[in-house]
Amino acid sequence: MAIRKIVLDPDPVLRKQAREVTDFGPRTQTLIDDLIDTLHHSGNGIGLASPQVGVLRRIFVIDMQDEAGVRVFVNPRIISRKGQQSSTEGCLSIPGYWGEVERPATVKVQAQDRQGHPFELEAEELLAVCICHENDHLDGVLFTDKVIGELVKA
Ligand code: NI
Repeated sequence: MAIRKIVLDPDPVLRKQAREVTDFGPRTQTLIDDLIDTLHHSGNGIGLASPQVGVLRRIFVIDMQDEAGVRVFVNPRIISRKGQQSSTEGCLSIPGYWGEVERPATVKVQAQDRQGHPFELEAEELLAVCICHENDHLDGVLFTDKVIGELVKA
């Protein structure tokens, strides 16, 4: 377990397409542990995607600090989106900036857990926002691409 360096915008790695995970061996397990450690070390983040530590794999972790604990998503696919909500987002790769982004009110996501077992999850409110935000990272998309109006500096 280790804390990795978070890549900051405008590093080009944040704009690349991440690759499917096919191997759930020790390297992937270490990467997932490191993502969790790095997220917790950040202090104020609720999600972190693998490209944000410079590794182009389709993995992100979310910790909403609720009873569910850390959620790990490998090879996620958002299979349905319903409704609309807007909220203020930030990103560990764009420290100090905030902006309003419109996202679906609910999403259904299919993914694999860290052992490779498939699962499906329906999410709403902040968890839906977070899943969409992190999933975008896997496709090289940042929340600043979607901000409505001004990007605000904290
Ligand atoms: Ni982000």
